[in-house]
Formats: sequence, C-alpha cells, structure tokens
Amino acid sequence: MPDARKPLISGNWKMHLNHFEAIQAVQKLSYLLPKKVFGTVDVSVHPPFTDIRSVQTTIETDRMEILLGAQHCHHELNGAFTGEVSPAFLAKLNVRLVIAGHSERREVFGETDDDVNKKVLAIVAQGMTPILCVGETLDEREAGSLEAKVSGQVTAGLAGLSPERVGDSVIAYEPIWAIGTGRTATPEDAQAACALVRTTVASAHGEDAAQRVRIQYGGSVKPGNIGDLMAQIDIDGALVGGASLDPDEFQRIVQWGVS
Ligand code: 13P
Repeated sequence: MPDARKPLISGNWKMHLNHFEAIQAVQKLSYLLPKKVFGTVDVSVHPPFTDIRSVQTTIETDRMEILLGAQHCHHELNGAFTGEVSPAFLAKLNVRLVIAGHSERREVFGETDDDVNKKVLAIVAQGMTPILCVGETLDEREAGSLEAKVSGQVTAGLAGLSPERVGDSVIAYEPIWAIGTGRTATPEDAQAACALVRTTVASAHGEDAAQRVRIQYGGSVKPGNIGDLMAQIDIDGALVGGASLDPDEFQRIVQWGVS
C-alpha cells in the first residue's frame, strides 16, 4: 500500500535567495538531478514570493520536472489585504504546491488552526496541493501533549475537505524543536508521529484517504539522516529547510537511495 505513495521531497527556501540566486539554485539543482529520478520521486522548491515568476519561467523554459511551490498565501482571492498574496495569483503562475500553517507562520505571525484551514480550502479550490504543517514544541512534547497537539492540528487543518482531496494532500510533520536546530527526531519518534497523523486522517476522512495522503517529515533533514527517515513506513517524503538552499546538498537528499 505505501508503494502507491510517490515520495515528495520539498525545499522550503524560507526568506532566503533573491530572484537571481533562486534562478541559479534551480538551474544547478536541475543539472545535478538525472531525469530518471523524477520517475520515482517528486521534487518541489518553494521560493519567496518575489522569486516565483523568475523560477516559473526558468522551470518552464528548460522543461524541468521540478515542481514549483509557494510558502504561504491568503485565503481570500482578492480584496483589501495589504501585503498578502492571493492563492489565485499563485495558481496563475503554475504553482503546484503551497505550504499552509508552517510553524514559523503559526508562531511568529499568529496563524490559528482556523486560519490554516481556510488557506487549505482556498489552495485546493484553486487546483493546487496543500502541504499542511503540524508539529509540537519541546515543552509540549515533554508535557506529553504531542498527540493532542498534532492530531488537533491535522483534524482542524483538513476540516471541510472531501476524502478524495484529503488523499491528494500532503501533511508535513515538523517538530518545532527540530527546525533549524540540527536536532532531528529519531527515525522511530518521527515514524510514531507520522503514524499518528495517518491514524488521525483515517478516523476523520476514512482509510482510503489515509493510505493515499503523503506525510513528510521536516526538521534538520540532511543527506546523512534522510535514508533512515525514508525507511519508516509512514514517512513519504521530507520538507527541507536549510539543506535545500545548497543544490548539491539538496540533490543528495533527493537521491538518498542512490549512493
Ligand atoms: P530545517 O531543515 O532548516 O530544519 O527547516 C525545516 C523546515 O522548517 C522546513 O519547512
């Protein structure tokens, strides 16, 4: 059953790389990745908004199989929302995947589960795929509330989606204490949390959606730990921050199975 879930390795560039640097990064990544890799792995890059048009043009002109992603969007299509970006504008740029509810958006910019759910619904309504981010803080983990936090975020984030659309979606389990810290969850802990995500999806949306939804692990993923993470039954990919900024390091993560 898990074989049906094609792994998805995503590079979240956060607020790094201007549009010149982004063009160079995607060109180098494409050069380093043999075409046959895309038969077995999906690869996406999520540049800052100001880079998206340039990266889109580069990907399309060179007929790259790298998928274009975004890091965030607003849930409304138009309106008086100074500084925000419409999901419809992203769809117009052929963006395929949009991250919703990254912990940095939740913790630094105060996004609630309700905000994140509206974004997920808006992303799907525009024909794009959401990457719903969930994960606990160190305090929550130590207090034993990982399960309540993560399953609550999954349930709230996907509310109102049909089972079919849930199955097409991506959920990224990113323990907040592992992001940008060099600390990674052990493969066993990451597996346990990703299994919890899948069970939560099964109880809210049915077994079929749960078997199809792709679950990524994120938090200090590197070439040296990707293999052990991907060996876990409920881990279908990775959401990579720091290591995705260096095309050489990122291609080694994408090609984890190839030595
Ligand atoms: P790092 O890989 O830098 O820990 O970031 C993870 C992340 O937040 C990806 O969205």
